[in-house]
Amino acid sequence: MPTSRTEEDVKKFVRFCKSPFGKKVMDWEAAFVERQLRGSQRILNVGCGIGSLEERMPHLNMVGLDSSASMLAEARQRSGKPFVRGQAEKLPFQKGSFDAALAVTTLEFLDDYRKALSEIHRVLIPNGKLIVMVLNPDSSYFKAQARRKDAYFRRIRHADVKKIEKDIRRLFRARGKYALGIKGTDVFESGRKAHAALFIVKGIKSSGRATP
Ligand SMILES: C[S@@+](CC[C@H](N)C(=O)[O-])C[C@H]1O[C@@H](n2cnc3c(N)ncnc32)[C@H](O)[C@@H]1O
Repeated sequence: MPTSRTEEDVKKFVRFCKSPFGKKVMDWEAAFVERQLRGSQRILNVGCGIGSLEERMPHLNMVGLDSSASMLAEARQRSGKPFVRGQAEKLPFQKGSFDAALAVTTLEFLDDYRKALSEIHRVLIPNGKLIVMVLNPDSSYFKAQARRKDAYFRRIRHADVKKIEKDIRRLFRARGKYALGIKGTDVFESGRKAHAALFIVKGIKSSGRATP
């Protein structure tokens, strides 16, 4: 039986996460997130994929949400954390359910990431924390990956990281920075736009209107 596109995506993510390079990237992301989430009690991971962060941080009280049943099936093999199927644009949680939320390389793939931001804002408590990581299309890493015909990166819908930061700032007190240098399979600290694979925005929920 032919496999669906999402099943193929899952296989690719699993291969990536098992590779020494993929491990370095995921370990870096998990270490960054862990430093930011110190003290957070209830954390939502929007677009959790195959649960790589949940797997790496079993001590955190984290709920993973993803729209893909195949991603979630894989995530449940990796971690005993709760995983919920749902849309980032219509989160199945009540107002003020979490004190922190993450969206790691997810917003840039959504048709309307502003809806997702507004939903994340709704489900966070006042002064709740937000961490957004988006791919940096100006990096040499992204450019090299995107040259491949079947690259997941090609599905990116929003390439302007500064615009994403600006939209986050409508709802959160927030600041963005480039991070995670990648050259070949080397992973290193770099805040330079040309080398940094990610643009990271850290925010705190402000009490403004939730419609960006
Ligand atoms: C590039 S992957 C990132 C996965 C994970 N955060 C990571 O870094 O390994 C993007 C994820 O977003 C999920 N996704 C796409 N559209 C979504 C939506 N509207 N609501 C929730 N999840 C969505 C995909 O199924 C996929 O698992």
